[in-house]
Parts: sequence; structure tokens; C-alpha cells
Amino acid sequence: MDAVVAGSSADARARQTEQQMTDDERFSLLISVMGALPLNPVRDERIPEGTPMSAGYTPGVPRLGIPALLMSDASLGIANPGYRPGDTATALPAGIALGASFNPALAWEAGRMVGREARSRGFNVQLAGGINLARDPRNGRNFEYISEDPLLSAVLVAESIDAIQGEGVISTIKHYSLNCNETNRHWLDAIIDPAAHRESDLLAFQIAIERAQPGAVMAAYNKINGDYAGGNDALINGVLKRAWRYPGWVMSDWGATPSWDFALKGLDQESGAQVDMMMWHKESFGEPLRGAYLEGKLPRERLSDMVRRILRSMFAVGIDRWGHAPAVDMEQHREVALEAARQGIVLLKKDGILPLAETAARIAVIGGLAQLGVPAGTGSSAVVPPGGYAAVVPICGPGVMGSARNLYLMPSSPLVELKELLPGARLEFDPGMCPGESELLARRCDVVIVFAIRVEGEGFDLPDLSLPWGQDAVIEAVASANPHTIVVLETGNPVAMPWRDRVKGIVEAWYPGQAGGQAIAEVLSGRVNPSGRLPITFPADLAQTPRPELPGLGTPWGTPATIPYDEGAEVGYRWFASERLTPRYAFGYGLSYTSFSYSDLEVRAGETITASFKVTNTGSHPGADVPQLYLTGAGGEQRLRLLGFERVELQPGESHRLTITADPRLLARFSGPDGILGSWSIADGIHRVALGRSASDFALAVDVPVKARRFGS
Ligand code: BGC
Repeated sequence: MDAVVAGSSADARARQTEQQMTDDERFSLLISVMGALPLNPVRDERIPEGTPMSAGYTPGVPRLGIPALLMSDASLGIANPGYRPGDTATALPAGIALGASFNPALAWEAGRMVGREARSRGFNVQLAGGINLARDPRNGRNFEYISEDPLLSAVLVAESIDAIQGEGVISTIKHYSLNCNETNRHWLDAIIDPAAHRESDLLAFQIAIERAQPGAVMAAYNKINGDYAGGNDALINGVLKRAWRYPGWVMSDWGATPSWDFALKGLDQESGAQVDMMMWHKESFGEPLRGAYLEGKLPRERLSDMVRRILRSMFAVGIDRWGHAPAVDMEQHREVALEAARQGIVLLKKDGILPLAETAARIAVIGGLAQLGVPAGTGSSAVVPPGGYAAVVPICGPGVMGSARNLYLMPSSPLVELKELLPGARLEFDPGMCPGESELLARRCDVVIVFAIRVEGEGFDLPDLSLPWGQDAVIEAVASANPHTIVVLETGNPVAMPWRDRVKGIVEAWYPGQAGGQAIAEVLSGRVNPSGRLPITFPADLAQTPRPELPGLGTPWGTPATIPYDEGAEVGYRWFASERLTPRYAFGYGLSYTSFSYSDLEVRAGETITASFKVTNTGSHPGADVPQLYLTGAGGEQRLRLLGFERVELQPGESHRLTITADPRLLARFSGPDGILGSWSIADGIHRVALGRSASDFALAVDVPVKARRFGS
């Protein structure tokens, strides 16, 4: 059945089913409650015994064939931050690593894996689809998201949502919108020009929703221009439901429903209601919403709409029609995690040292707990890998997420994997605790590999771009003792790299998931040719970013903060171009062990722009390239926009002709009477289209005349 037919029959069924419900049944669908955690082991009495503990539970209505909703986090696997002791799942690399792959097919594989594992555990709603744009390299949660670019983020997230829902599991897309910093997120007001919002974060949501039709949208914690995301009439009723005609339901984030009247602003379901009790001392969609209904403040039609939207997504995705769950092949899923880690690794600097020479006989491996494993991001997305973590170090911190902040180590040790792949070399390990000690080992080795890690996660922004625990000092010491030094970063965000000119190799491996150690060893040894590209600009320092000082950073939990996103739609590489700044490493940048050339760029313009070109592997190794098509000027105005990309694998000497058609919204500017509702317009005149290796390295460019046009909403 095609999606439109499925949608219209789901609408009809939702309407019929809702008509048969009692008000009690209707209200029962509007709240989800959180499962018990070891820290808070009391099962909420609304969750029947035997139900697997998870982020959210909403009872069903068996007499009408409405299943209960069992919700689990998130995009990187079936998360289990303590809910179900002993329950492990395939742990993918960070979302930002998936972003670095620039590979939609890989995102789809990852989504399918997540969907299958969710379903095998009985979860029918996956709280996946994190797509907030990386506006700030201090955002603790960037690791969970995809990138700073709306198109890249939307395309990859849509593939993963589509695959999850293809397994019969509803996926969310989240956090709508502008939860781009974690600093005091419950009290954070994100200020943005409404039209610029449409051209950036909202465009990412819009494209992803069109492509994948996620069953639910999760509203963010923060306010946007003064109104909470979950109670933001302009964004939910105006943009999402009216302009985009979104038919699914909008759930709140956990503990983000302070008032029943969010229902009038478009919110359909309160999530994790006990957290609201803790935060705001009430479950707003419980008694307060019923009271409003009885007093006539919540219209009957709106109550029906809230319920129908939930039912509609249940029926459209088919969670009411589950047969036997397909068998889960954990070995194959490990391969997915491994491949995602391989494709996500970005080679930043290779200066003749990478891949490792076979003649390197003595190799020092230093720091990063590389003898144990690889780090993971922290918070609600944390997945316990098969066999459990190699180690968990509680870090803690203030606020509700303080107790969930841990250094999680996935059990894939880069040291062990390197030893396996380099049997002819002698590898010695130093923990990197003391610069002097590390230096002693570095001095007597041919090559030094330093692993540098940082704990990043939900609920916390980073204070700056430095590495913690004195790791920058260790790298400086080692690099001055031995010039043949390689640094492998395992972080969720850019780092400052004050030692950059003194080391020969730099690799960004992000949080590479349960098979990360193997993927890193394969890239360093040359078994795998790196193909990742940066999905986020690496600034030279914070002074280059739109907000050198982050408002509210460091204030106690509960302090209201206002963050002006004055860069508007000029996020990341767009900002660097408009300010004429040279970053440390540009968006889209990444090296390979082979080389590629571009030729024969042809560009046609009509309703939109279509470009075709040839890419050739001119080196001597097989490898994958990611040619990127950019708009660099529109109708006399300088403007940088990623229009398209494609990852292509090529044998030495092989060529491929690729064609990319731009989404016309990427050529256009948004305008309207109130800024947020309106239309797109493409300027008249010459548009410049460039084919690049990154957002600041263009190989070819063509000017094409484009006719003015206005369209869509
Ligand atoms: C996060 C969401 C998550 C939810 C449920 C919240 O703290 O922001 O992304 O889905 O918890 O665990």
C-alpha cells in the first residue's frame, strides 16, 4: 500500500475508532509515564506488571484494538540508561558520526537495525530522529544529532526514521525546535528571527517530515522567542500542523509540560508525566486538562483531534498489526555498527604518517583508556552494548541529568585491536596520566598514537573547546618528544587542538560505538580507507563562533537563560562564509588515502538547479569520496548553501558521473507577514554553483541565470 493510501485509511480508522471511545479512554491516551529506574525503583501503578521498563508507557484500549504505547530511546540503538538490568542492544556510533558518513544508505541500515531491535523487545515507539542543528560546538548533545546543515541532517534522519517505521515501529523526530544548547534547557529562551528559523532548523524538520512521515514529533524543552516549544502556537499549530499539514501527534519532551493549555497551542501528549510532577508539581494533561474540558476551556473537537492524531500514527505505521517479530541477527547488527564507525571516522591530517608504515616496529599507544574501550555520549540515548560496558565511571553534575552523567566505555579496545592488526609491531601502552611519564615512552618508540577523549552529553554544555584531564598537556609533551605523533580524538564536538602543528596525524573518531576500537585500528593501519567528512565546522577558537560567550553557562540549575541565535540561518559553515572567517577545519572536509578529481561540471536551471559532473579516483587505493554541491551566490548576493552531496566508492582509475538536483528551498529565502508563515522566493539573476571537497574548497564553479519565482509554504 502506498503511503498516501495508508495515510487516508489510517485517518478514516482513527476517526471511527475515536468516535467509539469514552472520555476516560480518550484522556488515558494523552499521557505517558516513565518506567522505573534503579535509582527510583518504584513502578508507576499505571504500568502493568511485566511491562518492560522504558522511557514512556501509555495504556491501550484493548476493546477497540488500540495497543499500549511502549516508548524507548533513541537514535543510537535501544537505549537503556538503567531501565532493564541485563538488557543489552547493538550500540551504534554517535549521530554526528553517522552525519560524517554523508551516507543515506547507511542511515537506513542503522534505522532498520534500531527498528528490529525495538520491535524484538516490544517497543512500538522509538524516540529517535534527533535533528537539532549543531549551532554551538559546546552543545553537550551535538553527538546525538547529525550536523550543522539542514539538508544533510534531514536526508540522513529521514532515512533512519523511514527504516524504523518500515519495521512497524513509530519513530519520533525531535526536538522541535532549537534545543541547540543544554544550558538550563528547561528555562532557556532561544531567540531567532522567524524567517531565518524557517531557512535553517525548521527547514531540516520540514524536509525530513516530508520524506519520512514520522508518526510523532517531540517538542523541545526550551522556549522559542518567549514561548515554550511544547506550548508554541506559532510553531505547532501554525507551521507544523497548518502550513505543513502534519497529520501525526506532537508529544512533549520529558518534564516539559508545565500547563494544560499547551493542548490549545497544539501539544497532543504529555510525556514522562512524573517528571512534570517533579518539575512543575502537576501532571498537566491529567486532572488539570480534564478540569479544563469540564469547564469548556478545552473544546471537545480539540480533545478528539489529539486522540485521532495518536491513533492515526498507530494505524499508519501498523503497531496495531504486529505479528511475530522478525528474528534479530546480532552478528549482522554488529556489522552495521562497525560499518557506521568506519564510515564516520574523519581523517583530518595525515602528513606522511598515515596509514601506519609497516616498518613501524615500536608503537606507543597513550591515553584515552584505549586499553579498555571507546567512550560514548551520555544521557537518555545511552545504549548498553552486548556484554555490557567495559567500564562506567560516574562523573555526576548538577541538575536532573547529573546522576545520568557517566563516562561509558564500550568494550572495543583500540589497543587490543591495533595489536591484532599489527602483529609485527611491538605496542606499549601508557595511560596518559602524566605528561612526563608519557614522554618517556614516546621517546623510545617509532610512532606514537595518543587517544584523547571527552565526556559530553545530555544536560550539560561544554565550557570551552579544550580536552579535559590535562590531555592537551600530554599531547604537547609527547609531540615534542617524538614528532611522529598521531592524535585520535574521540569526542562529540570540535576541539581546539593547540598542538595541531606539532603532530603529524589527526583523526576524529567521535564516539564510535560498540565496534569503534576495531574501526579505528582498521583506519590507522590502512585496512580501511577513511571517507568521513566533517558534518560540523571545526573553529580555530570560540572567538570565531557566533557566541564567544554562552549566556547562562555555569549558572545554577533553574536559572533562566536567553540565548540569541543571531546567526539566524547562517549556521556553521554559512556563518564562516558570511563573516569571511577561516575555520580550523571546514564543514565537509576529510582526507583519504587516495585522491579524487572533479571534471565536466554542467549546471541546468529551471524550477530548480540540477548539476552533473564526473568524479575520478586518481590515486592508487580504492576509496570513497563525497563530492558536495554548493550554492555560493544568488542573484548578486553572496550566499553559501549545501545543495546536495553523494558518497561514491571508486576503484583506482574509476570515474562516475553524478547528478544532483537541489531542493528549491535551498535556493530561496523565506518571507511572510509574520515571518513564520509565508512563502519561499528565488531571486532573479545569476546563481553561482560550485562543486567542492568542503565548504571552503571548491574545485569547479558555473554561473547560471535563474528566473525569479515564489512558491510553497
Ligand atoms: C530527552 C529526550 C528523550 C526523553 C526520554 C529527555 O530527557 O531530551 O530526547 O527522548 O528524555 O528519555
